[in-house]
Amino acid sequence: MLILGIETSCDETAAAVVSDDRAILSNVILTQLEEHKPFGGVVPEIAARSHLQNLPKVIETALTDARLTFADLDGVAATAGPGLIGGVMVGLMAAKSIALVHQLPFFAINHMEAHALTPRLTENIDFPYLALLVSGGHSQFVAVAGPNDHKILGTTIDDAIGEAFDKSANLLGLPYPGGPEIEAIAKDGDPTAYDLPRPLKGRPNCDFSFSGLKTAVRKLVERPETQLQEGSTVADIAASFQAAATEVTGERTQQAIDMFKHIYPKGNTLVAAGGVASNEILRRELYNVTQLKGFQFVAPPVNLCTDNGAMVAWAGIEHFKVGAMDSLDFAPRPRWPLDEFKTAGQG
Ligand code: KG4
Ligand code: ZN
Repeated sequence: MLILGIETSCDETAAAVVSDDRAILSNVILTQLEEHKPFGGVVPEIAARSHLQNLPKVIETALTDARLTFADLDGVAATAGPGLIGGVMVGLMAAKSIALVHQLPFFAINHMEAHALTPRLTENIDFPYLALLVSGGHSQFVAVAGPNDHKILGTTIDDAIGEAFDKSANLLGLPYPGGPEIEAIAKDGDPTAYDLPRPLKGRPNCDFSFSGLKTAVRKLVERPETQLQEGSTVADIAASFQAAATEVTGERTQQAIDMFKHIYPKGNTLVAAGGVASNEILRRELYNVTQLKGFQFVAPPVNLCTDNGAMVAWAGIEHFKVGAMDSLDFAPRPRWPLDEFKTAGQG
């Protein structure tokens, strides 16, 4: 079974062909980074126009890289939300057109579900498992029991962790996206240099809060005695921020594992996915937590953690296997909580 996956929900125009035996035949990712860089973040209007302009070529390349034509495909999947609505509409319309013209099954995929299912593309993992989804827009713990079968155990009450990385990087004068920048510069810094807050640490649930940490970085940067022009200061703040963010995420994960085990006593796998899951310090922390709790830890390779078409194609395959096709009138969704029934609000 061969599925084409299309991803356009943020600032990557991506398409890939994946087979049900877990082979990634092509995985084309065109990043819009340079277009958004001058604005310090993703500009929705620019993103939508850029997707519109580049998606046909990206899809064509995904097919030629895989040495296939539309006639070889068994289905088409596209991110239908959550995300920036202009971009989502571009990808969804393209996928629907291909499905209509070539008479193929169509799959409307939740972007966060695609992240959550990615570890099953790269490793042999059974349902149910606990997923930590950490990206620019989300920080949540999800019990993943099957395609379209998810329970959110905890989420952020304010900012997402990726947002905290991006905003703190911006305060430190580092370019967008800030996550990889902070990770790189923190290697030269002292993680104990500044005592930054660990919001919600020790609370009984597994929710997150990151706005207080970001505000603490802002206050630190605004102090007259903080000399940002000295490289070591930036490195020390970056390292201290990263230490606080990963430590609190590790502690929240311990709570989440306890909650997950309460629901699925036999579950023993923690999966990390989404852009922030490419952070090595966070991965190490999560590995340590799983060792402590008797869980195995699985995270996709870095290039499949950030946004890509292969994860959308794979989610399409998972849906195909359980017969969960979608109709061509499926409406794009700027917001789409993972545990919301797929049919709810369908236009
Ligand atoms: O999943 P993703 O590619 O796009 C969204 O769906 O949001 O995640 C992007 C986020 C950005 O906030 C970026 O700064 C963060 O992931 N990120 C990282 C790292 N690589 C990407 N954060 C921390 N460390 C990294 N190495
Ligand atoms: Zn993402």
